[in-house]
Amino acid sequence: MDIHLPFIPDSFTSGSQSLIHPLAIGSLAVSNNVALAPMAGTSDTVYRAICREMGAGLVVTELVSARGICYDPDLKRSWRYLEITPEAERPVAIQLFGADPDDFYRAILRIHEHPVLRQCDLIDLNMGCPVAKVVRGGEGSALMKDPPLAGRIIEASIRALAEIAAAGADTGPFSGSGTASVTKPLTVKFRKGWDDQSVNAPEFARLCQEAGAAAVTIHARTRDQFYSGKADWSIIAAVKQAVTIPVYGNGDVVDAPSARRMLQETGVDGLMIGRAAQGNPWIFQEITAELANLPKNGPGPFLGKPTPQARAAMIVRHLHGLVARVGERTAVAEMRAQLAYYLRGTPQAAHWKNIAMRAKTVTEVEAFLADWLLEMQHLVEN
Ligand SMILES: Cc1cc2nc3c(=O)[nH]c(=O)nc-3n(C[C@H](O)[C@H](O)[C@H](O)COP(=O)(O)O)c2cc1C
Repeated sequence: MDIHLPFIPDSFTSGSQSLIHPLAIGSLAVSNNVALAPMAGTSDTVYRAICREMGAGLVVTELVSARGICYDPDLKRSWRYLEITPEAERPVAIQLFGADPDDFYRAILRIHEHPVLRQCDLIDLNMGCPVAKVVRGGEGSALMKDPPLAGRIIEASIRALAEIAAAGADTGPFSGSGTASVTKPLTVKFRKGWDDQSVNAPEFARLCQEAGAAAVTIHARTRDQFYSGKADWSIIAAVKQAVTIPVYGNGDVVDAPSARRMLQETGVDGLMIGRAAQGNPWIFQEITAELANLPKNGPGPFLGKPTPQARAAMIVRHLHGLVARVGERTAVAEMRAQLAYYLRGTPQAAHWKNIAMRAKTVTEVEAFLADWLLEMQHLVEN
């Protein structure tokens, strides 16, 4: 798959007025500061490549269990979550979760023994997942309640990355990893805190920096909030003030105006976009163009809503990407959920989603899209 980046002229990305700019995350140069957030069930390798092509500067895998990797010698079970497509999606981060520093150490070594996975550009540590079965084991956002353990996990992970770099490019299990002698950066994603009584994101960010993280992402909600309520952007500003490493702000960026507001109100270095990017890869075109102050009517990227034809073509492309990866049956089942996102905000979306949910084959999805397009055309004409 071709990556048409950068579609924003350099004169825009480097201009002092532009809110879009490259980011240096440790040794890694990222072309712009708008990233796709990790999302289990959505941000797989197919969708990440699409979002990169649409302008996301960085993409992240969904969370993958560090212990799971340690107990999966051929990485067969973890592969669905770990898979990356280096030629189509770099720079890409692999996100790990767990609670035992040794698991992270071993998982990172294991990843870098693999000919494809070793080409990831970053390792990201999940310290923000709110899900009960994750926090029950002391993982995800539970680590915000145990900063010393979080620090040991970061240090163990960095030790693994340093050993990989020291192993060199010429020989040894890590040869060709592209990381020789330069330590691959490590990043951490966390929340505002566990609950309103224990907000500790700024201190936690400092701990990450002191333990060696090259950047952090702050999702501006507590664990108790899960995904509800408003994200508190003031905590993003506080985290930015607390550290000198780059900070990605996350939570409630839904379009170009909110992207601009988050950057201006918090002074944060970059943005990470989650739910608003589900079924809406165009959001990266919209936001990167707007932040670069590209003229609205000038030549360059598409700035409005996708046409029904563009939407249908993207769905077909996404579906075929999944089929090539996981086979028709699973691909169609997975695509049904994504289809609901793609149809969000279109006329009679609930009605059409119900019909889409019945599709079991690629042919049925394509027939559904043909009917849907006809109806959209009909609505436009009448
Ligand atoms: C369905 C779903 C899955 C998610 N999976 C992950 C994950 O695997 N790792 C992670 O760090 N965050 C995960 N998140 C959190 C998002 O990365 C992001 O922090 C959150 O959605 C807030 O950003 P938003 O307001 O832009 O959606 C997930 C969120 C959703 C909605």
